[in-house]
Amino acid sequence: MFNGLEHLPPDPILGLSLAFRDDSNPDKVDLGVGVYKDEAGNTTIVNAIKEAERRFLEQENSKAYIAQVGVPEYNTGILELILGHKHPAMTADRVRTVLAPGGSGALRITAGLIKRSAPGTRIWVSDPTWANHIPLLGSAGVDLQPYAYYDKTSGTLVFDRMLAALAQATAGDVVLLHGCCHNPCGADLNRDQWNQLAEFMAGKKLVPFIDLAYQGFGDGMEQDAYGVRLMAEKLPEVLVASSCSKNFGLYRERTGSVLVIAESPADAAKAQSHLTNIARTMYSMPPAHGAFLAGIVLQDSLLKKSWLDEVAAMCARMKELRNLLVTKLADNDAPRDFSFIAGQKGMFSFLGITPTQVTRLRDEYSIYIVGSSRINVAGISHANIDYLANAIVKVLKT
Ligand code: LMR
Repeated sequence: MFNGLEHLPPDPILGLSLAFRDDSNPDKVDLGVGVYKDEAGNTTIVNAIKEAERRFLEQENSKAYIAQVGVPEYNTGILELILGHKHPAMTADRVRTVLAPGGSGALRITAGLIKRSAPGTRIWVSDPTWANHIPLLGSAGVDLQPYAYYDKTSGTLVFDRMLAALAQATAGDVVLLHGCCHNPCGADLNRDQWNQLAEFMAGKKLVPFIDLAYQGFGDGMEQDAYGVRLMAEKLPEVLVASSCSKNFGLYRERTGSVLVIAESPADAAKAQSHLTNIARTMYSMPPAHGAFLAGIVLQDSLLKKSWLDEVAAMCARMKELRNLLVTKLADNDAPRDFSFIAGQKGMFSFLGITPTQVTRLRDEYSIYIVGSSRINVAGISHANIDYLANAIVKVLKT
């Protein structure tokens, strides 16, 4: 049965972790997969999650299935985290949530919902976007179209070109947006641009589909929700796929949510029933453990404060590392200006170097970054910055 299969190459992002693990160079640097790391290079468990887990294990008395829509404490907590307190769409009872296996699971069942609700609908996807967006959404059988978003040469967001591309969209088309901390380029819409985009999309009757995987890693937990809250206020239908992988550090627990905001409570309920039905045909039930933990944190004011403080510290550290990288590259006489990295948000930026230079970084210096030249800023540390900056400049100059 399997004789005819071709062996596939490793995943462009996940494959880097394996290659890094097997590299014996003591100076190796991992800036590949988007996982937060501390100064020592460790991805530790968030303190509030550790405490929630201790409490949960004491009280857990069953492993029976949970409801398909998820854990109530988690669902209400996540809803408020994303939309804020008493968002008009919530007050009007036009929002429903479904727990999903991570942000990826949320994206996939939402793509299934789009396909079922309006089979011919196109989903417009930023160019560039997360390397797995197109395969993952495409596997639902939806039609994907790119829109211009970022210019790698100048390191800037190209908002005018984005609007020009989206002018080709027709009423009912869906636009996939990165809620904050754009993956892979780190260039986010500012508030003026979100405002313009919301007006533009409302005028053209487009549907925002917001991937919110890094809330809290850009400008702060509340600030990073600006775009999603605005869209949910200005547009009748909005889809959100959120993830607890990064901000709660629940990566392997696979904890995410779909938020569907519909024109009426009845439509929202219908959409939710289809999401759970699509999930049933794919994986039946969502994983529960991470949702229980995040639910405990979100419902306990002290734990929530501890968690928010910890995420704020991670965010501050990534901002500091961005500045440090820019300074060190300049100190090493980099042949080009990298200051754009300091103004970008979240975990990722492009170095804007060629695939050959990316390969040289890996082969000659054991520095692992994604082939598109995306770096995970959180993998930089005060211990590796000199080695890293020096290697990047050497590769650029020779
Ligand atoms: C990334 O972009 O590196 C992360 O979202 C991890 C992944 O699954 O690709």
